[in-house]
Amino acid sequence: MIGAERPKPDRKALAIAVLIGLIVLNGVATQYVASRFAHHPALGAPLIGPLYPPWEWLIWQQKFGGQTHSVFRTVSAGMALALSCGLFGLLAASGRNAERHEGIHGTAHWASQAEIEATGLLPKKGRRGEGVYVGGWRDERKRLRYLRHNGPEHVAAIAPTRSGKGVGLVVPTLLSWPHSVVVNDQKAELWNLTAAWRKKEAGNAVMKFDPGASSGSVSFNPLEEIRLGSLHEVGDVQNLVTILVDPEGKGLVDHWAKTSHAFLTGAVLHVLYKKRAEGKVGSLPDVAGALSDPDQRIESLYFEMIANSWGEGEKTHSTIASAARDMLNRPDDERGSVLSTAMSFLSLYRDPLVARNVARSDFKVGDLMNHDRPVTLYLVVRAEDKDRMRPLMRLIINQLVRVLLRPEITFVDGRPQAPHKHRLLLMLDEFPSYGKLEVFQEALAYIAGYGIKAYLIMQDMSQLWGAYGKDESITSNCHVRIAYAPNRVETAEWLSRMVGTATIVKEDITTSGRRFGAVLTQVSKTYHQVSRPLLTADEIMRLKSPLKDSGDLIIEPGDMLIFVAGHAPIFGTQSLYFRDPVFSERAKLPVPATDSLHRSQILAFQWDPKTGE
Ligand SMILES: Nc1ncnc2c1ncn2[C@@H]1O[C@H](COP(=O)(O)OP(=O)(O)OP(=O)(O)O)[C@@H](O)[C@H]1O
Ligand SMILES: [Mg+2]
Repeated sequence: MIGAERPKPDRKALAIAVLIGLIVLNGVATQYVASRFAHHPALGAPLIGPLYPPWEWLIWQQKFGGQTHSVFRTVSAGMALALSCGLFGLLAASGRNAERHEGIHGTAHWASQAEIEATGLLPKKGRRGEGVYVGGWRDERKRLRYLRHNGPEHVAAIAPTRSGKGVGLVVPTLLSWPHSVVVNDQKAELWNLTAAWRKKEAGNAVMKFDPGASSGSVSFNPLEEIRLGSLHEVGDVQNLVTILVDPEGKGLVDHWAKTSHAFLTGAVLHVLYKKRAEGKVGSLPDVAGALSDPDQRIESLYFEMIANSWGEGEKTHSTIASAARDMLNRPDDERGSVLSTAMSFLSLYRDPLVARNVARSDFKVGDLMNHDRPVTLYLVVRAEDKDRMRPLMRLIINQLVRVLLRPEITFVDGRPQAPHKHRLLLMLDEFPSYGKLEVFQEALAYIAGYGIKAYLIMQDMSQLWGAYGKDESITSNCHVRIAYAPNRVETAEWLSRMVGTATIVKEDITTSGRRFGAVLTQVSKTYHQVSRPLLTADEIMRLKSPLKDSGDLIIEPGDMLIFVAGHAPIFGTQSLYFRDPVFSERAKLPVPATDSLHRSQILAFQWDPKTGE
């Protein structure tokens, strides 16, 4: 590993040092000559006390050099010796060494304090830090400085499981970020540690969505966000069904999944219109119920859909009717397969607890960024429910982003204006475990313009490549990338490439002379500039992980790497919330009950034909 680069010697300071050195050297020589001549009056008057001007010995040498050879010979020899030692020292200080280079093979180096300040991660003197926590850095005095990023750009973190992502990145961020947040909370641990501070001190409405819970969860019906009756309705439903029929995020590989897409689009629209006619909002459990109604044969649903009058002026809604007609046109066994595939995507909503939690909405997605107060939404999934709930979480995350991107960005004085009142941090731990979410691949580049900042956390690059492919555009759309000691070599290789290459100077010593001679007649040093990674993959694999005691508690933070686009990489250290008395206090506040924005009385979306929204 190449260490932090030594500061380059300051040329001005070097010139002053040389000048002072010369004055002192000549001064000493002059005083020596004066004392050898016993301060004879012929030498002239001293400058101050017994001291003569420093250069005087040169004048005396001109005048008296002829008669007093030996004194000046001694002085000249001393001077020559001192000058050559000085020159040698200068060469050593400013000459070639491993840290100094001209960079022909790469200029990678670890960021200095000034360079970190230039990234904006360290506040300028006298300013307070703001934004999400991306790690820590020890300054020259070994004090831990927090690194925070407050720009609109996104952040990606790559760190293995149990390495302290929660305690080092997520918890400190949630205990300080004042704006809205959507965070997935695998074990409700974030809710327990941070909801109280976010509610009491940051003035957020805090909501816990825990779909498998019998109590204490807000409800959220993703179908309530469909702009029924507008020109957007089919597109909105298709976007939702695309996620519904691809529960793992692996794409529509299956023929049945593809064919059930069109049928489900029609069925969802039909159920929404039917419920609206009853003054209600349809939900996914309603769709599941319609497809497997114990009181009627499925054919009656198809005929009902064909004969619908949900179109404009009570005409037939063609999307709904043709979805059912397609089904009736299929041979019996194929029709049965499409139906059973469609029903399999809805089986989760037959769980009465899940059904209850998605049957209505306690908030609208727009509230997250436009309510009076900022809002924090914790998406809780218990470990035992992780796989079962994945399709619902995919659906909700996809719906959140798509709905928040609906408004147009307006321009004032040529500057784009975020269309929402509050900023939103979308903090997704285990991000690739949701499979491929097309909306991230498509929209990550421009959601920052809407005031949405993504903080995506993943275990390693293979996990991300598994979901989004090797040519993913997720990390390239993240301005800040951070990594703890990885445990997979592909991640280490990727990081090593990101750290970059440095030019180092390699010293070769060659000797010549007789092999068994008393003295080597020639010793020569040659220097080669060579390129090497600032950190090799192997060195990255050996970065320090957090040190833990026998009870699995972290007793010392591990190393980390922080990359900000366009800046030198930072060799950082983890910033653990429990070692900070302020965060520890914030985390201990008593856990609140979930808020609810009581939006359930807001029924179906009302389309405004003037705005088309
Ligand atoms: N207050 C604390 N003091 C010391 N160590 C702690 C404390 N709280 C948690 N830890 C330790 O932190 C480690 C886990 O940290 P964290 O949950 O942030 O990891 P993670 O990377 O998010 O893991 P996971 O993949 O399980 O989500 C564990 O070793 C745990 O014992
Ligand atoms: Mg965690």
